[in-house]
Amino acid sequence: MTAASGEQRLGLGLIGSGFMGRTHALGFLNAPRVFRLPVAAELELLADATPELAARAAGSLGFRRSTGSWRDLIADPAVQIVDITTPNTLHKEMALAAIAAGKHVYCEKPLAPTAADAREMTLAAERAGVVTAVGFNYLKNPMVKLAREMIANGEIGELRSFQGVHAEDYMADADAPWTWRLDPAGGGGALADIGSHIIAMARYLMGPIERVMGDVATVIGSRPVAPGSSERRKVEVDDVARALVRFANGASGSLEANWLAAGRKMRLDFEIIGSKGALAFTQERFNELQLYRIDDVRGRRGFCTILAGPEHPPYGDFCVAGGHQLGFNDLKTIEVGDFLRALAGEKTGHADFREGLAVMETMEAIYASAREQRWVRVSA
Ligand SMILES: NC(=O)c1ccc[n+]([C@@H]2O[C@H](COP(=O)([O-])OP(=O)(O)OC[C@H]3O[C@@H](n4cnc5c(N)ncnc54)[C@H](O)[C@@H]3O)[C@@H](O)[C@H]2O)c1
Repeated sequence: MTAASGEQRLGLGLIGSGFMGRTHALGFLNAPRVFRLPVAAELELLADATPELAARAAGSLGFRRSTGSWRDLIADPAVQIVDITTPNTLHKEMALAAIAAGKHVYCEKPLAPTAADAREMTLAAERAGVVTAVGFNYLKNPMVKLAREMIANGEIGELRSFQGVHAEDYMADADAPWTWRLDPAGGGGALADIGSHIIAMARYLMGPIERVMGDVATVIGSRPVAPGSSERRKVEVDDVARALVRFANGASGSLEANWLAAGRKMRLDFEIIGSKGALAFTQERFNELQLYRIDDVRGRRGFCTILAGPEHPPYGDFCVAGGHQLGFNDLKTIEVGDFLRALAGEKTGHADFREGLAVMETMEAIYASAREQRWVRVSA
């Protein structure tokens, strides 16, 4: 499959074709059609756990070739970009091998099971001079970008507090079976899986987190080893994680990651309070941003809803009409577009391995704080 625009052509090797693998493939297919990009990615090779899985996915997603061996994908001379969408425990080995082969690496979050692993990956990539990216697609929402611009322009004044939640209910059923997301070798549970997103969001909007006071809980002590099985396996990772946080800018805040949140499908929410107003957002209505201004006329004050439209780049690249709304896969398309621009040397401010490492360090500080029952400084 040939990309539609772009000067430089690079071969894409995608590892994994599950939820995220499919989303990444759609992002690479759509990005050159939505944006004018200096680099084109050819959908060259897809690897999955077996040759059969890989062949099926490559056929439906439009990759030229497939393989059951991710090592063969990394060694392939036609692949210059390695895109990792496998379970967390595999990210480090795959990324280090790709970097050693001189390939650019796009890796899903959380970057690795531990901050030490993420540091090793970050330093290796920086030493090799390859371009990296981490899948924090929610930061690519035009309304989140607008919130960041409004904060930078001082529109809500001095930042006073941040409240951030990422709550979903995909593990709420106590009989939901074992998945790789429960593997303690992956580094954590809800905090690693979805908390990594709200930490990245907090950092994007408020800046670095300096210290944390964490509390984590495993609520469902065991899960069936397979769908419908009566055999159960002990759960060792967190179902719910919370932290009080202090930002480097002096503001205070709180974060929550919760995968037992009955009724919540994609509650990635924030509320930011400043001296002149407030901003509120929920990913469940992600084409909207709520703004409150304290200097509005008395008796008329209240949160107003700003609807996403072409005034909020890059919305207009997808649709000329406001209020028609972007979708989840569009966020990945924007992320892929920024990554491809970064490959051409443009400064896109995209989340790279160093950002993935900073998120891991914050997560690890929350786990350490919960264990030691004290405030913990996030290592720089
Ligand atoms: N950014 C986001 O919004 C987002 C959303 C969901 C998941 N994720 C992240 O994406 C990654 C994958 O999650 P998912 O939900 O797509 O998982 P998934 O289980 O749906 O897909 C994982 C894929 O990896 C493949 N795989 C497993 N072992 C492999 C091996 N040894 N070699 C090659 N392929 C192998 C599986 O066959 C499958 O195709 C995780 O790191 C997860 O945290 C990110």
